[in-house]
Amino acid sequence: DDPGMLAAFQARIDRGDKIEPKEWMPEGYRKTLIRQISQHAHSEIVGQLPEGNWITRAPTLQRKAILLAKVQDEAGHGLYLYSAAETLGISRDEMFEQLHSGRAKYSSIFNYPTLTWADMGAVGWLVDGAAIMNQVPLQRTSYGPYSRAMIRICKEESFHQRQGYHIMMKMARGTEAQREMAQDALDRFWYPALMMFGPSDKDSVHSQQSMAWKIKINTNDELRQRFVNETVPQAEFLGLTVPDPELRWNPDKEGYDFSQPDWDEFFEVLKGNGPCNRERLGARVRAWEDGAWFREGLTAYADKAAQRRAG
Ligand code: 3HC
Repeated sequence: DDPGMLAAFQARIDRGDKIEPKEWMPEGYRKTLIRQISQHAHSEIVGQLPEGNWITRAPTLQRKAILLAKVQDEAGHGLYLYSAAETLGISRDEMFEQLHSGRAKYSSIFNYPTLTWADMGAVGWLVDGAAIMNQVPLQRTSYGPYSRAMIRICKEESFHQRQGYHIMMKMARGTEAQREMAQDALDRFWYPALMMFGPSDKDSVHSQQSMAWKIKINTNDELRQRFVNETVPQAEFLGLTVPDPELRWNPDKEGYDFSQPDWDEFFEVLKGNGPCNRERLGARVRAWEDGAWFREGLTAYADKAAQRRAG
């Protein structure tokens, strides 16, 4: 790219302009936005699977209705984000092909199993809680369509998190067996939730450039720290224990010192070797294949209608 154009673009970013689809942008800006927004969309769609598993197993009709509404919201979040990515010149089919071939990523957290009903509480509380930490700053991201999608999505995320925390409250104050299930869910989801913020800043390949272009507003470690600071008191309110013996309040930094997740495990999950990677991708590929007849029917109908119009 021409240095003058790059400098003018950076000046626009620095003064807080929103970049719109038809405006000039560096190729690298377009590419990393397609990468991040499409993977964000894949996360929303794949993220429906762990919770979908419990819609038919919800303990009451009310919980079933709430979970159904949340899973439906995630589908909508995915569609907003695929549409935002399409404004950058990639097609929906290309993005699906990247997901189904294993070349595109989605959030590592969704490769962990949801074994008990308490997991529905932990997922809403911790996974959507982490997603809120990450998505609220993204409302100020420099790319217009992504920023507007985030503003819309954030309005629904707080309901997702509250309903999860309410399940945890109910179980943590229930029978001894329910309390143990809630603690077990926290034990299994705590470190995978910390991994959602991405690798440590020193290992983050995109952070520096993404911060310069205001695609990323805070670093991975900043948001992870913010998440721990907000979530530990919530666990204490539940009477549950965060599974980290090193966790302690550090008055000097006004935040908790805490143990890092197992980054070897994180990179293994990213390579496709997590507990549920094959199952999750298999479910998405099967859904794509099972829907082929419907897509073909729609296309045939649209072609015929176009021929009739062409007369
Ligand atoms: N899972 C999978 N891949 C991850 C990851 C995670 N938790 N964290 C990082 N990565 C990948 C990055 O995509 C990148 O790989 P790539 O070059 O192939 O894309 C690599 O690890 C290096 O990480 P970086 O920190 O350098 O990458 P980024 O600057 O892109 O930061 C991110 C990672 C913070 C996840 C950023 O991409 C982001 O903010 N994405 C948008 C928000 C998002 O995706 N949130 C999580 C899922 S949304 C959700 O949970 C739905 C909710 O409704 C439940």
